[in-house]
Amino acid sequence: MYNSRITGLGYHVPDSVVTNDDLSKIMDTSDEWIQERTGIKERRHAKKGKDTTTSMGVAAAKIAIERAGIDKDDVDFIIFATLSPDYYFPGPGVLVQRDLGIKTVGALDVRNQCSGFVYALSIADQYIKSGTYKHVLVIGSEIHSYGLDMTTRGRAVSVIFGDGAGAAILSREEDTTKGILSSHLHSEGQHAEELSLIAPGMGKRWVTDILEDKDKEDTSYYPHMNGQFVFKNAVVRFSEVIMEGLQTNGLKPSDIDLLVPHQANLRISQFIQNKLGLADDHIFNNIMSYGNTTAASIPIALTEAWEQGKVKEGDLVVLAAFGSGFTWGSVVIRW
Ligand code: UT7
Repeated sequence: MYNSRITGLGYHVPDSVVTNDDLSKIMDTSDEWIQERTGIKERRHAKKGKDTTTSMGVAAAKIAIERAGIDKDDVDFIIFATLSPDYYFPGPGVLVQRDLGIKTVGALDVRNQCSGFVYALSIADQYIKSGTYKHVLVIGSEIHSYGLDMTTRGRAVSVIFGDGAGAAILSREEDTTKGILSSHLHSEGQHAEELSLIAPGMGKRWVTDILEDKDKEDTSYYPHMNGQFVFKNAVVRFSEVIMEGLQTNGLKPSDIDLLVPHQANLRISQFIQNKLGLADDHIFNNIMSYGNTTAASIPIALTEAWEQGKVKEGDLVVLAAFGSGFTWGSVVIRW
């Protein structure tokens, strides 16, 4: 019997800081609206011709590998979570294998958007617990900015999302009281289109056919979000799946040392914090600086929390995410 433990963490964000005031120069929005509704002050935007989802993931991975004290050749498997891959296919997992010069290990791409990193971690955990692999590289990376509608029409979505990458090395742990205690994954495809990007999926052909006005601009290349509906579902599912994780392990909210929720909206995080009765130093948020970086948000936040000394040996750390699909999940970790 083995457990799996996070032995290395890293993140990488592009240099370019885009403030709310910067956005208000190109669309009808304001610092006041964005901060009041989301808590976001600024986000990073990647540089075209320099940054790719893969290159940022690789940069984060190098830091995680070094901190884990392993060599790239010790990596037995790669899992890459993103909704913004460099290519429609192949996925970025194989590009990481190539760019890091890792031997011909398996590379898997996870397409679970905001809960992508939680799903990826859960898969890695199963491989390690089963004894199949010793070290799994798990990456979450996103470049949203290249594909957002940066006009007033797209403001309800484009002000929220930012670019960045985070990575973790999950390693075999002989002490089964340490590491990932359990993970919990859910989906509800009934609401698939409420937070979606239709093109370039094969379903786009169908969307084009049903456009009533054929001359209308095809906006299916932009993400669509029914914000209030997503918000209402998020607060319910986040709380449910955190409680599921705690109850599975005979724990309660007051046992949580640090909750790292997917950074979707500061108001969502605050709602969960209040519902669980967590003090401010038992939840970690950094959406103020990076916006919502989808699959990258948890590994970036977890890395920052760890770098700030907020994750210590023996701590109970809970990761939780909700997003497009809808999919949601949690991971309960004894650090
Ligand atoms: O990570 C995946 C999961 N995602 C989420 O969990 C996101 C969940 N949803 C949300 O975070 C919020 O719904 C949003 C932040 C997206 C939107 O906040 P809201 O309070 O739900 O605003 P709303 O969509 O109801 O829009 C309110 C008003 C509208 O104007 P009218 O119709 O009242 O005149 C919008 O047109 O705000 C307007 N609006 C904006 N105004 C200034 C929408 N976006 C903007 C903007 N700047 N960027």
